[in-house]
Amino acid sequence: MKVFEQEYFSGEELFDVLVEGDCIQIMDRLPNEIFDMVFIDPPYYLQLPASRKLRRWDVRTEVNGVGEEWDKFESFEEYDSFVVKVLERVQRLMKPNATLWVIGTYHNIHRWGKIMQDMGFWILNDVIWLKTNPMPNWLGVRFTNATETLIWAVKDKGSKKYTFNKEYARQFGKIYENVWRIPICSGEERLRDEKGNKVHPTQKPVELLKRVILTSTREGDLILDPMAGVGTTGFVAKMLNRRFFMVEKEKIYVEWTKIRFEKFFKNSLFV
Ligand SMILES: C[S@@+](CC[C@H](N)C(=O)[O-])C[C@H]1O[C@@H](n2cnc3c(N)ncnc32)[C@H](O)[C@@H]1O
Repeated sequence: MKVFEQEYFSGEELFDVLVEGDCIQIMDRLPNEIFDMVFIDPPYYLQLPASRKLRRWDVRTEVNGVGEEWDKFESFEEYDSFVVKVLERVQRLMKPNATLWVIGTYHNIHRWGKIMQDMGFWILNDVIWLKTNPMPNWLGVRFTNATETLIWAVKDKGSKKYTFNKEYARQFGKIYENVWRIPICSGEERLRDEKGNKVHPTQKPVELLKRVILTSTREGDLILDPMAGVGTTGFVAKMLNRRFFMVEKEKIYVEWTKIRFEKFFKNSLFV
């Protein structure tokens, strides 16, 4: 994997790259219609007030939620305007038959879906990620949140010849069903620092990305992840002989992605 700090990208420079920076600015430096698939795992805009820490039902222990700066926006208006900026660029960068995945929780996914439809994206499916080991229900005042939703779409209604590998989809559920039962990221897979703390609060499971990539791309395809976190999309893309272009604005996550790649692909079962 190359980590770039340059102005323009084209041709093979786009292959297996991680760029540290703001995805809006970086996407503006890319040529039209180059990606076969785009995966977006954006900030959720959880709106946790700084003063209020989440506590477990027993009120003794604090929950490790998403309180990071990158999840903060002033208002829904500001969040929506960010979504529009991202989607405008993504729509330009997708090949005519490319597909787009967006993952989110009830906090944000409906906003993404509405804006996508308003902008002409055509939704093919939503897929429910059913967490087999969800976070415990801290206060017991509402249902346990055991799902995230993935929206899968083409860039406009006319895009018909997109990739759908139904032979893989069949492995993930009866008659290609759109409910995927997968545990949240834990154990060996979860990146932790020297103190044992999670490196990234929302690191996605490899199995989830495997399903996304195997069902909607072919070997050699180029995948964009504009908000890459600790690089799960590129990591799985590389395992599966796809190419990736990732952007992440937080230096710490870029550094950890490098460590993750170096560690894994040196002694890897996959290469
Ligand atoms: C939900 S996390 C992605 C987690 C990732 N899928 C993983 O498995 O590690 C969203 C990420 O988007 C990054 N981000 C937020 N705004 C961004 C922007 N404008 N440009 C680039 N990255 C951004 C955050 O720093 C955060 O790491």
